[in-house]
Amino acid sequence: MAIRNIVTEGDDILTKVCRPVEKFDERLAVLLDDMRETMVSADGVGLAAPQVGILRRVVVIDIGEGLMELVNPEIVREEGEQEMQEGCLSCPGVYGITKRPAKIKVSAQNRNGERFEFEAEELLAVACCHEIDHLNGILFREHVVRMVPEE
Ligand code: NI
Repeated sequence: MAIRNIVTEGDDILTKVCRPVEKFDERLAVLLDDMRETMVSADGVGLAAPQVGILRRVVVIDIGEGLMELVNPEIVREEGEQEMQEGCLSCPGVYGITKRPAKIKVSAQNRNGERFEFEAEELLAVACCHEIDHLNGILFREHVVRMVPEE
């Protein structure tokens, strides 16, 4: 495993739409392992592949309830609304209150290509929305209703 470099805001790669994963091979496994290590070492709760320079639909999330690996994730249902403070490993020092769905249902594949679904609310819903946005070239700033001043 290796810690990869995290791309920061201003780099074009963060604005691109990622391609779906088609091969569930060793290369994907290595990417997922590296992304987890990179996220942990940066003290983040989520990381999307474009943040390490890879334009594929791959996400890792750990909000403190265990690692989730999402390949080709999609939000298939959303309801309600919530506001929460967000930051992003690609936007160091930037924090804002965002408006996101309160509850979502996500469909994704695991590293072996098996599809699974789960429901998420509160922080997990926000993390899923935030990371899936990265796969579509969208940063959390677009959902900010008010910025949080730097301390
Ligand atoms: Ni982010």
